[in-house]
Amino acid sequence: MSTILVTGGGRGLGRATAEKLARSGHHVVLHARRAEAADAAAAAIRAASPGAQVTPHAADLSTMGAVRSLAGELLAAHERLDAVLHVAGVMQQSETRRLTADGYEETLAVNALAPFLLTGLLLPALERSPAARVVNVSSRLHLPDSRGPSVDLDLDDPMLERGYGPDRAYKNSKLAVLWVTYEQARRLAGGAVTANAVCPGFVPLTASDSAHGAKRLFMRTILVRMPFAVSVDEATDSFVFMATDPSLDGASGGFYGERHPIESSPESHDAAKAARFWALAERLTGFAWPA
Ligand SMILES: NC(=O)c1ccc[n+]([C@@H]2O[C@H](COP(=O)([O-])OP(=O)(O)OC[C@H]3O[C@@H](n4cnc5c(N)ncnc54)[C@H](OP(=O)(O)O)[C@@H]3O)[C@@H](O)[C@H]2O)c1
Repeated sequence: MSTILVTGGGRGLGRATAEKLARSGHHVVLHARRAEAADAAAAAIRAASPGAQVTPHAADLSTMGAVRSLAGELLAAHERLDAVLHVAGVMQQSETRRLTADGYEETLAVNALAPFLLTGLLLPALERSPAARVVNVSSRLHLPDSRGPSVDLDLDDPMLERGYGPDRAYKNSKLAVLWVTYEQARRLAGGAVTANAVCPGFVPLTASDSAHGAKRLFMRTILVRMPFAVSVDEATDSFVFMATDPSLDGASGGFYGERHPIESSPESHDAAKAARFWALAERLTGFAWPA
């Protein structure tokens, strides 16, 4: 039995992934933003699968202080972690830039900086596993030809003080996740911890949770039926595969979708940009990756 941390486990893909993992006998460390959501999800999973081992934890991942507190709590409660699945993520709907209490653009903070920091702080628990996996959730939306405004991460303006838009912020954050993943894989090479990224595909049902009004209805009734739509079951199968499938033993530095490797953009493989973002992430989170 593995001990697997799933962030964003209170609802959406994180919640469904936590349930699948617990049902198949893993000890799930279930994170949600609020304690009530974590407790409710854990209780519901236990009720549906008697004997399931689920331990709830809560933290708002938008501030680095809260990520640090969560990591401290997790390290105290769980000596070893066999996988960390960073599912929590935000897709803003507001056209207005939102700043966190740290003064960071919220999408970058939650989607890229929080997983970067949490993984770094949890390394001691991951390194106690004979083979641990870091799974970062990215998106094909980081590809330059994806719908809407192109990804455009200006490392001199990572907080989008100029030219903010919710889609741009989301795409940038998912490119940053790939830079972090590939750099983590380089730094972890030769050890027992691997790092990979995954795109669950377009899941209108859970994505619609952050939409409102007619857009939400359209996603829930029309888009869910489209051939390109991915079901919650398929998407969570991808996440479970990343965290547990033996075929990935030792595999690191990859990007996956639908349980097979997929291509990420040429820019995501730009090691110089990855190194610049890494240095920025270290500065913004105040965490220096161990040498
Ligand atoms: N759905 C898609 O089509 C799609 C496609 C590609 C990639 N993804 C990625 O897959 C992941 C899951 O997506 P989803 O569709 O399940 O999204 P979702 O239904 O919107 O769920 C997002 C999860 O992240 C949590 N979260 C957001 N901000 C947080 C914060 N500040 N602190 C703690 N938790 C926070 C939410 O908790 P609350 O309940 O507290 O808000 C929720 O559990 C995300 O990383 C997303 O970017 C999704």
